[in-house]
Amino acid sequence: MILVTGGAGFIGSNFVLDWLKESNEPVVNLDALTYAGNLENLQSLTDDPRHIFVKGNICDKELVSSLLTKYKPRAIVHFAAESHVDRSICGPDLFFETNVMGTLNLLECAKAYYDQELSENERSAFRFLHVSTDEVYGSLTFDEPAFTEETPYRPNSPYSASKASSDHAVRAWFHTYGFPVLTTNCSNNYGPYQFPEKLIPLVISNALARKPLPIYGDGLNIRDWLYVGDHCSAIRCVLENGKIGETYNVGGHNERNNITIVKTICAILDEMRPHRDGSYANLITYVKDRPGHDRRYAIDSTKLQTQLGWKPKECFETGIHKTVQWYLDHQDWVKNVQSGAYREWTAKQYGNW
Ligand code: NAD
Ligand code: DAU
Repeated sequence: MILVTGGAGFIGSNFVLDWLKESNEPVVNLDALTYAGNLENLQSLTDDPRHIFVKGNICDKELVSSLLTKYKPRAIVHFAAESHVDRSICGPDLFFETNVMGTLNLLECAKAYYDQELSENERSAFRFLHVSTDEVYGSLTFDEPAFTEETPYRPNSPYSASKASSDHAVRAWFHTYGFPVLTTNCSNNYGPYQFPEKLIPLVISNALARKPLPIYGDGLNIRDWLYVGDHCSAIRCVLENGKIGETYNVGGHNERNNITIVKTICAILDEMRPHRDGSYANLITYVKDRPGHDRRYAIDSTKLQTQLGWKPKECFETGIHKTVQWYLDHQDWVKNVQSGAYREWTAKQYGNW
């Protein structure tokens, strides 16, 4: 049994689906179902006894402790977070509450469980895997080398500052208490079930609705893109083979600037779903820049690839084709998210809150 937090979000739900495809080990999925949590993502597991969904907050000490006692997981994979940079600029409080205090609560509950409820053998097998981001390293110029695990932390947004704080707490629990943690720092993910506030799903859904495709600033900011399935396989690999107390960068060497990403999506849509009014690229609209917008992220995942043997399956070209196809095939999913109907679906399954 493993405990996953945030398993109804974008990466968490992909992880739970992949996990139960790859193994028969059950998952307890603790998720508060914020705006970003969507149980429709996990609809295929509705009657699957290996998936136990619990609606609840990672900041709730009693709940977290009782789940640990009840299910006795051998590992915790911690995804739950507020994840969107733009939202953190408008309302940072919740980011610190969830990402910092929520992680602290999980660490405290998990350490008490580890110390008091596990046998020696169970303790030596136990892992707490903290899922983090490359944004903690700050921003690169166009010609600096990619982030390694040795790059100093220089978070620039309220989101990345909150994630950096949680990474430091995780590190301290290892150094101070010998608590068996692992941390992954991954670059930008894309793929199925990503909430259409993030660049790639926003552009696909706006293009299909013939709405403007907003490009912040000059469109030359660079991100390093990884298909979500490859992030999930990296987490499984680190969970099974990672060295306790270590951090691992996750990325697939797919740096692209934003305008290139948006033009690529438009070209794929022109091919797959041509529109009588002409190219989707005509919808591109330059807008005011994000405050404090990091210029470039690039991740060096040599450590993960050489020490643990992980390799991504997708390059950007294959991953983005799959992703555009998925959004074309799942326009109802996007509509339900945009209209808020996904919340009604959840309420039908789990009651109102
Ligand atoms: P997401 O916003 O899509 O999902 C977050 C999930 O956490 C949601 O299901 C939400 O309901 C849940 N959640 C939020 N607050 C909670 C709380 N207090 N208690 C319980 N559940 C709560 O996020 P995502 O993009 O899937 O990211 C998952 C993790 O991966 C985050 O920790 C993020 O920092 C990290 N990460 C994301 C990316 C990316 O590109 N999206 C890249 C690297 C790392
Ligand atoms: O690097 C990993 C991080 O990637 C994760 O930790 C975060 O959780 C995740 O949200 C993501 O952060 P970004 O800020 O890089 O992702 P976002 O999709 O918001 O933006 C990607 C780039 O596109 C960024 O340079 C801002 C730009 N952008 C974004 C939006 C939403 C636009 O130009 N227009 C837009 O409308």
